[in-house]
Amino acid sequence: MAEFTLPKNSKIKPGKTISAANGATRKKKFSIYRWEPDSGKNPRLDTYEVNLDNFGPMVLDAMIYIKNEIDSTLTFRRSCREGICGSCAMNIGGTNTLACTKSISEFNGDITIYPLPHMPVVKDLVPDLTNFYKQYASIKPWLQTKTAAPKNTERLQSKEDREKLDGMYECILCASCSTSCPSYWWNSKRYLGPAILLQAYRWIVDSRDEATTERLNKLEDSFSLYRCHTIMNCTNTCPKGLNPAKMIAEIKKLLVSRLT
Ligand code: SF4
Ligand code: FES
Repeated sequence: MAEFTLPKNSKIKPGKTISAANGATRKKKFSIYRWEPDSGKNPRLDTYEVNLDNFGPMVLDAMIYIKNEIDSTLTFRRSCREGICGSCAMNIGGTNTLACTKSISEFNGDITIYPLPHMPVVKDLVPDLTNFYKQYASIKPWLQTKTAAPKNTERLQSKEDREKLDGMYECILCASCSTSCPSYWWNSKRYLGPAILLQAYRWIVDSRDEATTERLNKLEDSFSLYRCHTIMNCTNTCPKGLNPAKMIAEIKKLLVSRLT
């Protein structure tokens, strides 16, 4: 019988535990995935007990405190601290989300933090997004036109056409949705995944774009789009409240409508 198990050096081992300083009144434990590729050692879970009085209310505030005051080797990405750049996406308490907009008060017990699932890890909480960005480039995420640009004005769009981009222009490409999708886990080389498909649809429905047919042609194979099985993890996890599953369904509808 087949036996499914993790490769030996990928099993997560218990790591160190650091207790809060004496006198801490509001204690909270953060168990954080650690992996140093150069060490040759297995990944581990380090646990840091901290006093919530020492920093702000978000998970990212706790992580910055841990890095600055307790363990400078802890590695993670962050930039804007306000849900705009997408760089702090990680798996917090079992859900892919943004550390900077996730409130610590949402968790009753200890908080466990892992990198985004099923991505190669560069170090600790930093996933390697090379394939993700390559896939983003593959959909040509820019305005493509064939007609000459109008004189003395921009390519204008009606209010109604502009509204068709709502629910897509807000995407910050954090990859939380794609890395929550089992189909993307198994087929990430050939299936584009929810984030990139949402972005593809954003250009397909842009009234100013003139490459709609080419864009749809590019998605019409058995993997790029159709590996979506409407599992809906993407929509459930999106920290910006977007609905990538709906956008994928809209692309499928457009492809079907071309057949009739
Ligand atoms: S759709 Fe949501 S979860 Fe997916 S990349 Fe965009 S912002 Fe992140
Ligand atoms: S730090 Fe920019 S989205 Fe969290």
